Amino acid sequence: MDFKQRIEDLTEQLNQHNYNYYVLSNSEISDYDFDMLLKELQDLENKYPELASPNSPTKRVGGDITKNFETVAHRFPMLSLSNSYSKEEIEEFDTRIRKLVDGDIEYVCELKYDGVAISITYENGELVRAITRGDGVKGEDVTANVRTIRSIPLKLRGDFLPSFDIRGEIVFPLEAFNRLNKQREEAGESQFANPRNTASGTLKMQDSSVVASRALDCQIYQLYANKINVQGHFEAVKEVENWGFKTPSVKERYIEKVQSIDGIMEFINYWDKNRNKLPFEIDGIVIKVNNYHRQDELGFTAKSPRWAIAYKFKAERVSTLLEKITYQVGRTGAITPVANLVPVQLAGTTVRRASLHNADQIEKLDIREKDTVFVEKGGEIIPKIIGVDLTKRDEDSQPTSYLKNCPVCNTELVREEGEAQHFCPNINGCQPQITGRIEHFIGRKMMNVDGLGVETVIQLFNAGLIKNIADLYDLTLEQILPLERMAKKSANNLLKGLAESKKIPFEKVLFALGIRHVGETVAKKLAKHFKSIEALSLADKETLENVDEIGTVIAESIVNYFSNEENKTMIERLKKTGLQFELDESNNTQKSNLLDGKKIVVSGVFEMSRNELKKLIEDHGGKNVSAISKKTDYLIRGENMGPSKLEKAEKLEITMLSEKELLTLLQD
Ligand code: IVH
Repeated sequence: MDFKQRIEDLTEQLNQHNYNYYVLSNSEISDYDFDMLLKELQDLENKYPELASPNSPTKRVGGDITKNFETVAHRFPMLSLSNSYSKEEIEEFDTRIRKLVDGDIEYVCELKYDGVAISITYENGELVRAITRGDGVKGEDVTANVRTIRSIPLKLRGDFLPSFDIRGEIVFPLEAFNRLNKQREEAGESQFANPRNTASGTLKMQDSSVVASRALDCQIYQLYANKINVQGHFEAVKEVENWGFKTPSVKERYIEKVQSIDGIMEFINYWDKNRNKLPFEIDGIVIKVNNYHRQDELGFTAKSPRWAIAYKFKAERVSTLLEKITYQVGRTGAITPVANLVPVQLAGTTVRRASLHNADQIEKLDIREKDTVFVEKGGEIIPKIIGVDLTKRDEDSQPTSYLKNCPVCNTELVREEGEAQHFCPNINGCQPQITGRIEHFIGRKMMNVDGLGVETVIQLFNAGLIKNIADLYDLTLEQILPLERMAKKSANNLLKGLAESKKIPFEKVLFALGIRHVGETVAKKLAKHFKSIEALSLADKETLENVDEIGTVIAESIVNYFSNEENKTMIERLKKTGLQFELDESNNTQKSNLLDGKKIVVSGVFEMSRNELKKLIEDHGGKNVSAISKKTDYLIRGENMGPSKLEKAEKLEITMLSEKELLTLLQD
């Protein structure tokens, strides 16, 4: 076989599929088939590294590590925009412009994306470099990380300019951001505060495969070249669409040409009202003079172009008194400082508390008790403290000294290198950590213990009946009956719930243990790979790291967990009570690979129960997903299925199967 030719073919096919999917939102290939092509290319590149191009589609999944980001000068300086906050200021901007140039003025209105600016250089149709804004003159080379962002083309198509820079904003789409935070919550990790900072942090990560896993996106907003062959900015943005870029949609009004102040204000008002429906955050609107000649005539001030201005949305902001900073202890021992405020109305809700995140945040904003603070609610849901009204600060006010000892058990707090959060190390003696772990253990997605709730866990703990998860299974009716508000029926239910939970399969038990960084998905992977807690507990760091998708942090956390004597004793006790600590191959062995990797939505009423149906799908390697999207491979269609789902599936041309058809398929 001509390997070079095959690599070229695969590259071309994969680039085309990527483009269809991420730019045109119109995929022609299943995820599975795509992955097979990618794997073939990866294998060939591993075998013949000299044939691997720096812009190979395999770079999309990351893997390149950047230890130090090199500082590189921008070919065109990266300026900023002057801001405005009212119609009057926009009118002044327009008047200024009309004084400086003659004739009609056409404006382009765009969204002001709230993310991180990036400048990407293309030479002869290939992405060669991506640089952060930095100080505007030079920035950091984050090319390997930017290559993982799928909507950014690595190779261009069409009639592109031989050399140019394209600029845009890297954003963290809200859906992906919320998904990431949910995963982190399940793994007992701290939450990221907002999409913008997280996008910025992600872009500077050393391991590009982590960047790849985070699904960042890029919104294009400007083209720079020595000579551009079109009349104006709007035309340029549309032109680069032909080169393979995803550009702002005219149909969805992400970009619009207008001829007057009224047009500008109409655009601003539309997005002020509708911005919460966007899949990413914006913090305003950008208005640019369209015509390049006019732009040249207008020129620049020291910091920003005269031909453009940003209009910033008003975030609703109020000020209130911060009465006290208190500290919360999470299940993992992480400490979160909380601002307790004099209640205040903000954007339709009463705000009483706001997270201060960590010690650095308090120091950065120099927040102190009895300060008057500004609380803001922008596009986000959670209110945040954005600063202190220094004019109202008491003269004898002192800087906050961060808590040194656990607010609950008084153990000295620790802060490990690289961690934003302080931790209480008294894992097995600190109440919220103990009850938090027990609450996690009994949760619906874990051991799913019926008849036991958060309140009861705390009652049981306070009565001295449970100190760890294993104690739960030693509880007797005589012990729990005397608890307040505990009727005989509920006591029996509790014991029944616990007995039932002994049937819960190993992967869920593993998740339930609450090992740091071991969330639902990781637990499944580990259970499948090691098959028993015994084998997992004996694995060293290296063995663990060799498991697909298990990195250093997870590996270290697992080794750490199993080196703790108390954890070992507890697991021994749990084993004796009959919990599942081995993979039940009879239940779990896949019956076939017929549905391997396929994403399947089940909707409507069926002859077998929905759970049976879902299990059947998993047994054949399929994955159950709840919502229909263009990634869905099959829709299993039952009776009385909702019309909107059906319509969506039809529109996306998703293959639909009846229950019978599915069964026939699997029997074959
Ligand atoms: S144009 C010379 N357009 O806002 C013009 N910027 O202070 C340069 N931004 O650093 C910027 N959306 O990161 C432009 N549609 C948009 C934008 C945008 C967001 C950011 C950009 C820049 C900052 C301006």
